[in-house]
Amino acid sequence: MKRKISVIGAGNVGASLALYLAEANLADVILVDIVEGIPQGKALDLSQAGPVRGYNSRITGTNDYKGISGSDMVIVTAGLPRKPGMSREDLLSANADIVGKVADEIKSKAPNSFVLVVSNPLDIMTYHAFKKTGFPAKRVFGQAGVLDSVRFRTFVAMELGVAFSDTQAMVLGGHGDTMVPMPRYSTVSGVPITELLPKEKIEAISARTRDGGAEIVKLLKTGSAYYAPAAATAEMAKAVFLDEKKLLPASAYVSGQYGLSDLYIGVPVILGAGGVEKVVELKLEKEEKEALAKSAATYKEMLKFLGY
Ligand code: LAC
Repeated sequence: MKRKISVIGAGNVGASLALYLAEANLADVILVDIVEGIPQGKALDLSQAGPVRGYNSRITGTNDYKGISGSDMVIVTAGLPRKPGMSREDLLSANADIVGKVADEIKSKAPNSFVLVVSNPLDIMTYHAFKKTGFPAKRVFGQAGVLDSVRFRTFVAMELGVAFSDTQAMVLGGHGDTMVPMPRYSTVSGVPITELLPKEKIEAISARTRDGGAEIVKLLKTGSAYYAPAAATAEMAKAVFLDEKKLLPASAYVSGQYGLSDLYIGVPVILGAGGVEKVVELKLEKEEKEALAKSAATYKEMLKFLGY
């Protein structure tokens, strides 16, 4: 039987994600949205691209949560996007309501699924989905670090004029202003970027990565980024279903690693058929450790708003 991935939210992220998932021939895709006609229309349109693009995944749209029954993975993109000037954290209470309701549906209709959260503020929403579903932590994780690290990689490639695909990067911490890019662990074909770029350039790239989402919100004016977030999310689904055991940064549950506990935060993980199979503990320098602790403290504070 073909796998089934449900994508909650048929906005720009959800629809782009459905396309990438179909192109990877990973699963049949169910697009779910509360707005009547939107998931159905986008699913039909995406299906009609299949014969040209060469994918055979069935893509269907529905307004009914029954559609997610028996999903192998549910990806949560539902929620309000940012408007110019807003931080991801400004979305906290509105999106907590939405993600909370979605998590209840997942718990009852797809009790064995992996839950991949994309809604913002990301690390908080992932924790919320973890608590609401009651699923094991390895089956609930959030997409943020892959996006943040591909942004970093893009800027490195643009700066050096090298192939995008030769770059690698690691970004830790929350998906927000406290994120912690890790230049020491970022390379071009294995060569640390600290050998290739002056300190000021690396700092500028780190800052642009941190503000990468806001830069796009400012340009678009009516919403936030979607192609790269969707591509990053599809990459994580692929790692699970192809059991790739990829080492990538994800919002994952920490229980003592990096001195942090009972929190979702961006850390390197091994992602494979078991979900988050391991949180990888890197050796951090003093300032990096402090930056991660500061990021964690911000999110601990924010969780209190949701009564955790
Ligand atoms: C971004 C939003 C989607 O980083 O969080 O673009």
